Amino acid sequence: MKILITGGAGFIGSHTADALLARGYAVRVLDSLEPPVHRNGEWPAYLSPEIEKIRGDVRDETVLLQALRGVDAVYHLAAFQDYLPEFSKFFSVNVASTALIYELILRENLPIRKVIVASSQAALGEGLYHDANGQAVLPGLRPDDQLRQGLWEIQAGPGQTGPLRYQPSGENIANPQNCYGTSKIAQENAALNLGRMYDIPSVAMRYSIVQGPRQSLYNAYSGACRIFSLSFHLGRDPVIYEDGGQVRDFVNYLDVVDANLAVLDDDRANYEMFNVGGDRAVTVGEFAQVVAGVFGRNDYTPNASGKYRYGDTRHILSDVSKLKALGWKPTRSTEDSVRAYRDWMEGAAPAADILEQSDKLMAQLGVVREVSQP
Ligand SMILES: NC(=O)c1ccc[n+]([C@@H]2O[C@H](COP(=O)([O-])OP(=O)(O)OC[C@H]3O[C@@H](n4cnc5c(N)ncnc54)[C@H](O)[C@@H]3O)[C@@H](O)[C@H]2O)c1
Repeated sequence: MKILITGGAGFIGSHTADALLARGYAVRVLDSLEPPVHRNGEWPAYLSPEIEKIRGDVRDETVLLQALRGVDAVYHLAAFQDYLPEFSKFFSVNVASTALIYELILRENLPIRKVIVASSQAALGEGLYHDANGQAVLPGLRPDDQLRQGLWEIQAGPGQTGPLRYQPSGENIANPQNCYGTSKIAQENAALNLGRMYDIPSVAMRYSIVQGPRQSLYNAYSGACRIFSLSFHLGRDPVIYEDGGQVRDFVNYLDVVDANLAVLDDDRANYEMFNVGGDRAVTVGEFAQVVAGVFGRNDYTPNASGKYRYGDTRHILSDVSKLKALGWKPTRSTEDSVRAYRDWMEGAAPAADILEQSDKLMAQLGVVREVSQP
């Protein structure tokens, strides 16, 4: 059995490739080796020599058809994920390419037995909240004038009674707040609807924040694990946005690989969407302390920086009971993820000015902002 992984030179794709090879599958990767994920524009050294490699863009019909011919299943992981305001690119890379996969399967009558697409927790946005009366609320983006005052929690709106409390969000929640999340919702719908309509078993995987080795050191979009690890590695304290009380949902890369493989062979997964998260709430401050511990900084206590990233969610936690019902469960700890990331990162010898470069970009883009002094 041969599997195509689009975006297979990246973080999740390359680990999925390794696991598939270990199970005896043949693997083909289609990847355009995008900067800044692949800084030198070259195939990464960690990719197994057993992988058949095609360099090209998932939006290019000729190259996509070449990649799809002769495979039994597809993991569509290639994606545009960035803070850059290239709004249309989110849709051309993440959504149009998904539609093109189905278009080519149909037109060329390709015998592909399953398509698995990578969605994201970003599709949930702020996720599900309950107000003090237990009423369900789907909050929008926190307004900038609220954040500027250092008021971090979601405020009750008209007809709601505060305080609002976040809840684990199931697959029924769709509340994206940015173009990336909106494109992922569209991608899920394209895959599941076209799959159902044309009997092409399809699965959408909504990953939470995935952590582990090979996660791009240079993409500013790679989150807290990268920033905090690089900070401690370079001998400084990480910048904590807001008050560090934001709840996040971190999942280990090997748990994600297990999930990817679990849905490949299991027909119960067909035409379904699954949250793939860590099944535990961790605040950013707690996470910073885990990273500090892994880097031997047991004296460290997180301090709020007075900065925030406009557009960030306050709290988000995925309910993973649907995937657990298929027999999968996350088994690795946050500390496992950070340790594995540290070991890899130290071997990858990151440039000393790596954080300044992404800080500069985020400031230029107006993503990172500061609380106004009273
Ligand atoms: N890493 C996470 O925490 C996370 C969380 C939620 C969802 N996801 C999703 O999982 C998938 C994999 O993410 P990742 O973390 O491995 O990302 P990554 O950036 O490490 O890998 C993505 C790969 O796709 C390639 N690529 C990008 N645009 C392409 C294009 N137009 N044509 C061909 N190749 C292209 C890149 O070169 C890269 O190798 C993505 O769809 C992403 O949206 C990731």
